[in-house]
Amino acid sequence: MKKREITTVTYEYSVEELSKEEQLLIEKSKEAVKNAYAPYSKFKVGAAVLLANGEIITGTNQENAAYPSGLCAERVAVFYANSKYPDVPVKAIAVTAFTNNKFVKTPVPPCGSCRQVLVETETRFNTPIKIYLVSETGITVIHDAKELLPLNFDESSLNN
Ligand code: THU
Repeated sequence: MKKREITTVTYEYSVEELSKEEQLLIEKSKEAVKNAYAPYSKFKVGAAVLLANGEIITGTNQENAAYPSGLCAERVAVFYANSKYPDVPVKAIAVTAFTNNKFVKTPVPPCGSCRQVLVETETRFNTPIKIYLVSETGITVIHDAKELLPLNFDESSLNN
């Protein structure tokens, strides 16, 4: 038997410690929250994606009366960015959530399906995606999506 241990590294920042470019991305994710369609959960999520061409694309969660038909903010933003610019790498994503009339106190981590999509996007463009999880108390930064999804399934698994 061999034991293998996998660790995940995250960094905690105050907004002021981040660069102006990073702060702008965070601000865009906060602004996006108001466009969320979340009548069922009342949990509004905004995502802002920074592309290698400098453009910022935002997305919000889109719910549905048939609950599983809805989609998270992260995937809405990433899929839209990749549809608009299929050849432009995604460099970073900021995610903010708003519920009970306020921004969340603790950062909201992306769900498993969003992690899978973020990892696919990293692999597709061979570019790490920096993740900013936004909350009122600070920003959690993760240096790439693989950090959040170790032992991930990807195209190399298909070509085994
Ligand atoms: N949601 C997101 O948009 N992103 C996340 O990272 C977590 C969850 C959405 C899905 C659903 O519309 C609502 O939040 C409650 O789960």
